[in-house]
Amino acid sequence: MEVRSYAKINWSLRVIGKRDDGFHDLETIFQTVSLHDTLTFRESERLEITCSDPSIPTDERNLVARAARALGVERVAIHIEKRIPAGGGLGGGSSNAATTLVTLAKMFRIDTPLESLALELGSDVPFFLMGGTAYATGRGEVLRQLPDVGAMPLLLVLPELHVSTAEAFASLTRFSRPAGMRPFDFRDFVNDFEEPVFARHPELRDYKQRLRDAGAVWAGMSGSGSTVAGAFRSERERDAAIARFAGLRVEPVATLSPAA
Ligand code: C5P
Repeated sequence: MEVRSYAKINWSLRVIGKRDDGFHDLETIFQTVSLHDTLTFRESERLEITCSDPSIPTDERNLVARAARALGVERVAIHIEKRIPAGGGLGGGSSNAATTLVTLAKMFRIDTPLESLALELGSDVPFFLMGGTAYATGRGEVLRQLPDVGAMPLLLVLPELHVSTAEAFASLTRFSRPAGMRPFDFRDFVNDFEEPVFARHPELRDYKQRLRDAGAVWAGMSGSGSTVAGAFRSERERDAAIARFAGLRVEPVATLSPAA
């Protein structure tokens, strides 16, 4: 069985404060996008993970392995064809974990709620069970679906830089007040990680500015970086922006509707 595992961006990401459990309370708007990995599942004697990207561990550190174990599934071989870069703020590992939970539950007819297993695997994993556009609080697991924004053209700029999420949280010098759930409006969107991450990696600020100069109606960093995304009025404007990023990996994508 072959299944797509989509990436996400954060339209907005406010960090509200540090909690007693070491995590931070957030207020974010998640969005699945059409960039995806492809996961192939087949029955096997034992749990076996392989990945097209040799830099990604395939042992128990891999969230796909941990998702299979969390469901008690051992007799499966899973291959990950990677397109979503690790450490890019696009939730690739979290998405792969959610895809694995959903697919294995179907394949092995396991009738158990997946939300709590998902949260144990990572703060962003529950969102990927839902997809589309969602307002999230808590660690990111208190989710409300927002109205579908349709297939909006986006350009993702993917620097080779890997940002550690834990380090990005530790580098925050101030917290935000929550904005509350409001109608979707680009003018409300901020990402609290931009300040500390742009300070260390000024080229990311420059990519955001280049997207704006190219006519993006919104541009911002995703998660704790390093991906910078821009939203465009048309595919034509989006595709014209690509020439401004010679030498960098860019991905023309579109926003996705909620998972079926
Ligand atoms: O949940 P996940 O494993 O993806 O989180 C990775 C790290 O990011 C955590 O260990 C924590 O340091 C930080 N984090 C946080 N608050 C969140 C999500 C992540 O502090 N809401």
